[in-house]
Amino acid sequence: MIELAFSILASDFAHLADEVAAAERGGGTIVHVDVMDGHFVPNITFGPPMVKALRPVTKLPLDCHLMVENPDAFIPAFAEAGADMLSVQQEVCRHLHRTLQLIEQHGMLPGVVINPGTPVDTLIEVLPMVHYVLVMSVNPGFGGQKFLPLALEKIAYLAELREEMGLNFRIEVDGGVAHDTVGSVVEAGADMLVAGSAIFSPGRTEQNAQEFLKTARAAASDEK
Ligand code: DX5
Ligand code: ZN
Repeated sequence: MIELAFSILASDFAHLADEVAAAERGGGTIVHVDVMDGHFVPNITFGPPMVKALRPVTKLPLDCHLMVENPDAFIPAFAEAGADMLSVQQEVCRHLHRTLQLIEQHGMLPGVVINPGTPVDTLIEVLPMVHYVLVMSVNPGFGGQKFLPLALEKIAYLAELREEMGLNFRIEVDGGVAHDTVGSVVEAGADMLVAGSAIFSPGRTEQNAQEFLKTARAAASDEK
């Protein structure tokens, strides 16, 4: 199933609840929360208190993407705040297997993220334990960047591995996914589509989400 995970990084924070509601009306089914610590990435965003504030305003799953140096230290706080899905960057996890176990033990769905410079092969051993793999199609840190086509091969390779290994993890893609790039991403095999700047815009968010999903689903049915 193709799903839109709308990234609130591009929303108007002063009206966050309304922004989420508009993206949800447009068909978005996952709230993507970009957590940045100013160390792993050169930007600072939000943490567990924001997740806690979001929890009562929507029933949609909260997908927290941790771009932080020491994710293990924050796993309990995100669980407590109400996160449903939690992904960690492969690059910062000295004990990736242990970190994914910890996420699961805290009742959240574990995901692992790879940057554009990180090969898919670094994940093979943990694929059986993840609910989703997030392929970054920009270098993380900021919204509104240009899509890097090298992500397409990685998505296709992951889809192949999933088949070969008899697994059912989902493939999420994040960064520069917009009207003009979403078709190729879906054709490559991604099914959780993160989009921020392509969705949020004053007065147009609902319609943007609808149009985005329409394009994505058309590409998916061409594939079959
Ligand atoms: C980048 C973040 C993305 C970002 C996507 O570090 O992980 O989730 O919000 O934004 P757009 O869709 O604007 O590229
Ligand atoms: Zn993200």
